[in-house]
Amino acid sequence: MTFQDQIKQGIPSELPPAKPYPADANRAPKRKDILTKAEKQLALRNALRYFPKAWHSELAAEFAQELNDYGRIYMYRFKPDYELKARPITAYPANCQQAAAIMLMIDNNLDPAVAQHPQELITYGGNGAVFQNWAQYRLTMQYLSEMQSDQTLHMYSGHPMGLFPSSEEAPRVVVTNGMMIPNYSKPDDWERFNALGVTQYGQMTAGSYMYIGPQGIVHGTTITVMNAFRKVLQKGESAKGKIFLTAGLGGMSGAQPKAGNIAGCITVCAEVNPKAATKRHQQGWVDELIDNMDALIARVKQAQANEEVVSIAYIGNVVEVWESFYQNDIFVHLGSDQTSLHNPWSGGYYPVGISYDEANRLIREQPELFKVKVQATLKRHADAVNKHTATGTYFFDYGNAFLLEASRAGGAVMADNGIDFKYPSYVQDILGPMCFDYGFGPFRWVCTSGKPEDLDKTDAIAAQVLERIMAQAPEEIQQQMQDNITWIKDAKQNKLVVGSQARILYADAQGRMEIAAAFNAAIARGEIGPVVLGRDHHDVSGTDSPFRETSNIYDGSRFTADMAIHNVIGDSFRGATWVSIHNGGGVGWGEVINGGFGLLLDGSADAERRLKSMLLFDVNNGIARRSWARNAEADFAIKREMARTPKLKVTLANRVDDEIIAGLAL
Ligand SMILES: NC(=O)c1ccc[n+]([C@@H]2O[C@H](COP(=O)([O-])OP(=O)(O)OC[C@H]3O[C@@H](n4cnc5c(N)ncnc54)[C@H](O)[C@@H]3O)[C@@H](O)[C@H]2O)c1
Repeated sequence: MTFQDQIKQGIPSELPPAKPYPADANRAPKRKDILTKAEKQLALRNALRYFPKAWHSELAAEFAQELNDYGRIYMYRFKPDYELKARPITAYPANCQQAAAIMLMIDNNLDPAVAQHPQELITYGGNGAVFQNWAQYRLTMQYLSEMQSDQTLHMYSGHPMGLFPSSEEAPRVVVTNGMMIPNYSKPDDWERFNALGVTQYGQMTAGSYMYIGPQGIVHGTTITVMNAFRKVLQKGESAKGKIFLTAGLGGMSGAQPKAGNIAGCITVCAEVNPKAATKRHQQGWVDELIDNMDALIARVKQAQANEEVVSIAYIGNVVEVWESFYQNDIFVHLGSDQTSLHNPWSGGYYPVGISYDEANRLIREQPELFKVKVQATLKRHADAVNKHTATGTYFFDYGNAFLLEASRAGGAVMADNGIDFKYPSYVQDILGPMCFDYGFGPFRWVCTSGKPEDLDKTDAIAAQVLERIMAQAPEEIQQQMQDNITWIKDAKQNKLVVGSQARILYADAQGRMEIAAAFNAAIARGEIGPVVLGRDHHDVSGTDSPFRETSNIYDGSRFTADMAIHNVIGDSFRGATWVSIHNGGGVGWGEVINGGFGLLLDGSADAERRLKSMLLFDVNNGIARRSWARNAEADFAIKREMARTPKLKVTLANRVDDEIIAGLAL
């Protein structure tokens, strides 16, 4: 059967044979055994509703085994036999090009070169799922192959509810992931309802088909590290020979040493898992590996003396590094942490003083003791960081819930007012005021022809557009524009493409709109094939996340999620090809609402109208909200946008003088 026929058949008419689990696959962790017997029976009923009755007794036994062994029913047997990867858009069987573009993006998220646990349909972050099981994948691809351009496919947490009549103006796909009644949004609720097969954790770009591999993270991390140095260095001073101390060499955190090298400093990155550290070293993401503290101290002192640009992985616990550097008078300019503290009790953060293997044993056999050790380590970690910051180190939380979990553990990380943390998050101090409030965020695109030449041409077009805009740009955003021009010009030589021919480029509303319009014109002239536009959810408008994307909102509204909801609804009727809205992503289930979109450019006048309308709203919705929260940079940006866009009129905030408030008897 051809690739196209396999897609068109959906659930096969003959029961496929059971498949052995591939020996080399990176298997998803065994999930919590949380369901009661009655709930397990319900999970099996739920799984079997995808299949004809004649197969039920055979599949029931197999799925029960999967549920018992792995805590979930992935339906491994139904994984297609063809290679999962983004094919050129013309390879997909489809009645409309938009549907074919979505199939390409779905396959990219499941490509073993891209996805973390491809057999379990997990793209990144340990639990960021595209689908809950392989039946959902097959049915979705089949629906997309049948879809007409006046139908919309509604996706409920990986489950394709079906094709509904709509209109050509409507999105082709509407995705929701993990949407819960708010009271049912605790971590164990995810475990329970995901095991039942009725919801999933979509992370950000996993469940919305917009993941493009590690380059997205490298760009964002580079911007953060470079701007963090700009905050602490004198004008004209370089980062050479200055230390950036952090932890984690995993999925996202592994970008830190590369970003540190681009920023031109000494990066010391601790990683407890020797396999993760070695993998990053072999891949060239970190320059040197050291597993002994004395050797690390000697090497770091040498690098400081020689003003080297180098990244060093220390195999061990980060707390030991903070403590030893203090004892050995090693001054740290920048400090952060990217262990997975959004997931502290099952391996996201390892306690100090016990081996990696022993810690993993405790997780399985003595979870309560593990928790006690994690919390004691967090207190020690906070104490060691505090000693450094007292001598001038600039420490920031990297959106991994370090400060949140350290405070819950009783660590000394609270500010004097007892409400705020002592240290800013990277969004509060860096990405928020320097990027998001001006509208700069992780715009991205995928060349659907699959041709590297098309990506080269789009890189060149984007660079030209940014240079043209920069010539007229105000002083306030010159630095960001320059950083982004440098990034796009170096992008090819940084060799960051994994999977589809994709590129990330931080840009503001004007930049995104003008780059997209220039792509559309190039498609119309036949210079490149169709292009999918999108973005990370970690952006200006798409995400309400009080400890991350919206942590620099200070009017009390950071615990609301109106912005993200308005964004997805607003994008949907302004021309998006697909839209998505998720509970969870980065900081954890119940802690964030985040959304995104995809928009296919095909060179038509219709695509031009859509991109202008949708991108303008997609960025300025968030700037308006940030401006209303009294963020000065956003106030500047929205006034500029209103001057440029006559039909845009937003409510502006008046500022009250502090003395008026301070003098009140409250
Ligand atoms: N890079 C970004 O742009 C970005 C942005 C926002 C948030 N984050 C957050 O960063 C965190 C990390 O993401 P990831 O995908 O890399 O996760 P990951 O789980 O793949 O990697 C984390 C690594 O930290 C290591 N680790 C845990 N405890 C340690 C300790 N005490 N000392 C040294 N190493 C330790 C683990 O072994 C693991 O390899 C997540 O919470 C994520 O949400 C990253």
